[in-house]
Amino acid sequence: MGPLMNQNRDTDADWDHLGQTQPYWAVMTEERFRGQKVSRDVEDQFYQSGQGDVEAIHATLMARFQAPERFKSCLDFGCGLGRLLIPMAARADQAIGVDVAASMRRLCQQRLDRDGLNHVILVDVPTSAASYAPFAWINSYIVMQHIPPSRGFELIESLTSLLEPGGYLSLHITTHRDPHLMPSQTRNPLRLLARSLRHRLFPQRDVGQITMYDYDLADVLSRLERLGCKQFHLEPTNHGGHHGFMIYTQRTQ
Ligand SMILES: C[S@@+](CC[C@H](N)C(=O)[O-])C[C@H]1O[C@@H](n2cnc3c(N)ncnc32)[C@H](O)[C@@H]1O
Repeated sequence: MGPLMNQNRDTDADWDHLGQTQPYWAVMTEERFRGQKVSRDVEDQFYQSGQGDVEAIHATLMARFQAPERFKSCLDFGCGLGRLLIPMAARADQAIGVDVAASMRRLCQQRLDRDGLNHVILVDVPTSAASYAPFAWINSYIVMQHIPPSRGFELIESLTSLLEPGGYLSLHITTHRDPHLMPSQTRNPLRLLARSLRHRLFPQRDVGQITMYDYDLADVLSRLERLGCKQFHLEPTNHGGHHGFMIYTQRTQ
């Protein structure tokens, strides 16, 4: 599966473009969220969906790992427009949103300003969040799936190393997909070569695409284990045939 996915693509450029053209739809691909701007009503529906998601994630951390009601500090990786970051911030003294796309951060900051949330800070990469570490809770949902795993693995490790001992991680990855979502299968060596060359020569065709990548679950878990996460709770996810897991864990050291 791995080699069929375009590992060379500059997905950062895609997301900056998406943030400029379809910011809501790029996060939640439902028709009502299409367009550069949406009505106030639709915008409210968008942000309300985040309240529900964070409530469910937090409830799982409390039930499985005895996480507290409130956190000193939290971080949302791939925060986008703040759909999850804002309800996370309501549970924390300080919240950091990390997003590589300047266009997404700009819109998120507008929403934070509108809501008067001045205990929330936005940065572009995890290393810029390090000065606010360690974090009591780090979350990332529907983000790693859009990042080539070679890079995603490094990001997962650098994020986990920002957790305080006893800190909680809720991390979503995709691992496999239904057959109709597979890049077209072929055993023909010439076709395979042609595809690989196309990916190398034209990695950035049609900037603004949403690309999906699958991760090796065992690889992710073993990296987390090496960083001091000793117990895991996994919940399967299925977004339109893209399957994965929400991984819940606590760093013990
Ligand atoms: C599908 S959206 C999810 C946003 C948010 N997690 C939510 O659920 O509302 C994916 C987000 O990840 C961000 N992203 C993609 N690649 C990233 C990277 N390498 N580092 C940080 N953020 C990234 C995108 O800019 C986008 O805002």
